[in-house]
Amino acid sequence: MCGIIGCVGRDDETLDVLVHGLSKLEYRGYDSAGVALSGERVDVCKKSGKIEDLREALESRTLGGAAGVGHTRWSTHGPPTDENAHPHLDCNGDVAVVHNGIIENYQELRDELVTAGHTFKSDTDTEVVPHLVEDALADGLDNEAAVRRAIARLEGSYAVAVVVSGDDTIYAARNDSPLVLGLDDDAYYLASDVPAFRDFTDRVIYLADGEFATLSAEGWRVSDVDGDEVDKDVDTVDWDPEETGKSGYDHFMLKEIHEQPRAIRQCLRGRVDELSGEVDIGDLGDLSPTGVQFVACGTSYHAALYGAQLLRDAGIPAQTFLASEYATAPPPIGDALVVGVTQSGETADTLSALREARKRGARTMAVTNTVGSTAARECDHALYIRAGPEIGVAASKTFASQLAALNLFSLGTTRIDGAREIIGALRDLPSNIQAILDDSNAESVADTYVDSDAYFFIGRGHQYPVALEGALKMKEITYKHAEGFAAGELKHGPLALVTEDTPVFAVVTGDGEMARKTIGNVKEVEARDAPVVAVTDGQSDVERYADEVLEVPETHPQAAAVLANVQLQLVSYYVADKLGRSIDKPRNLAKSVTVE
Ligand code: F6R
Repeated sequence: MCGIIGCVGRDDETLDVLVHGLSKLEYRGYDSAGVALSGERVDVCKKSGKIEDLREALESRTLGGAAGVGHTRWSTHGPPTDENAHPHLDCNGDVAVVHNGIIENYQELRDELVTAGHTFKSDTDTEVVPHLVEDALADGLDNEAAVRRAIARLEGSYAVAVVVSGDDTIYAARNDSPLVLGLDDDAYYLASDVPAFRDFTDRVIYLADGEFATLSAEGWRVSDVDGDEVDKDVDTVDWDPEETGKSGYDHFMLKEIHEQPRAIRQCLRGRVDELSGEVDIGDLGDLSPTGVQFVACGTSYHAALYGAQLLRDAGIPAQTFLASEYATAPPPIGDALVVGVTQSGETADTLSALREARKRGARTMAVTNTVGSTAARECDHALYIRAGPEIGVAASKTFASQLAALNLFSLGTTRIDGAREIIGALRDLPSNIQAILDDSNAESVADTYVDSDAYFFIGRGHQYPVALEGALKMKEITYKHAEGFAAGELKHGPLALVTEDTPVFAVVTGDGEMARKTIGNVKEVEARDAPVVAVTDGQSDVERYADEVLEVPETHPQAAAVLANVQLQLVSYYVADKLGRSIDKPRNLAKSVTVE
């Protein structure tokens, strides 16, 4: 999704800071980029393609100015061309605007502005903003008042940043799209996401919907729609800038897969008592929901399916809904809790489902990685998964941490038989994951099946969400066809697709009834000559029917899901690597999907 960076107070370094910030936002996914600096005049340089293309274009330009904004664009209105890249200008070239989100009434505004004589150069919704500011300036308003008047006309979601010729100030506003300020001693930053300026400061202010910020070398101010000053808390970011580097790994995704032991340790720290082994999740432990509805998208949806199962195991009615389909869900009953599982805390579909849940009178909780995110701020409660920054577009360590956090939630809010055993298994997760990472044969499995036509993943119970997640990871980073199924469903249709060119990854842990039945399904595919890759802890005899085996240490079935997923992440990673795919930024995908 689009990214914003802004900077004032760095004098001659403004342009470098902006381009550096854009490179830190690349992970969000984009197809063009641009910058605007405001000196005596506003200067703009923008290019479709990569940041490298922008850098090249900047070589032949001299852009100067003490205030600047930059943008990475992920196309929504109009194709990725130079003209459609941000920043966008008014007719006089005095007002430059970058924008994330979607302006829903843009067509109406555009028609009005065209009738009034404005000339548009792009297909974007964003371009209405500089023209609206231009009109307000022509009516004699000062710069801040002009930007405010323009913002007041917008309907939809936006994070907007504006610079105006001859003014060393950035004007910014948000509604339903994240914006965060960064404060240093004599410089100020603005971004859609902290990594954009984390190399310069760790002091941040999260803007809320309806707030307006002005940043100049003299200082910053946040106000509400009426212009009244708002008191804001200054937060400190607790992760290191180095965490957003690759640390010698070829890809962020591989680094993040390897960070899972640490991520899980961070998630459990202080929440599992070292001596008693009991779980303490603070006030969240008192929520005692009579029922839970989970809402989430993509990988987080798979984590939510797993979380709902944990609660049902503990006797609490729990359902999972794709956030984008929540409108069709039954109303939450009684003292129900609606839980949004969202790594970023900014996914538009999930935010909208959570808002709908609040309208229906439910209490809400965000299970998120991002302190200060919209989900964390808008929900009544937040359970942080503490995975640290995840830069690869494909979620890896955050899925593991979501599963760990959901275990803590079910243990902390319910009475579960065998809790001690589960807690022990959670504590063993970091070392068990490390054992897999040290000794995995996933690369050789990837080598064997890299040319396959399609990949299927099957699992039951706690391993069903893992099968879905294994397939999602495979398709998003390899661009190959992959599907995940509840193992028992295979024979109800998908079996028709199974051939000797479609390996089936079967997640079989333990030796109970679930394992026995899944082995039955494995035999069905084996009989159709499909290669079988068993992901197993060796407790059952699935290996007898498998062509390849990916081993995981023996543990509680709930924890086994996390371990099996690590092996599947590695297989997808190595298949994608062998195919030369853009692993950290798969085509068409964005890290944080802020449009519905
Ligand atoms: C897949 C992936 C996406 C996200 C989904 C929700 O690897 O990352 O499917 O899981 O877009 O994102 P969050 O968790 O930020 O709400």
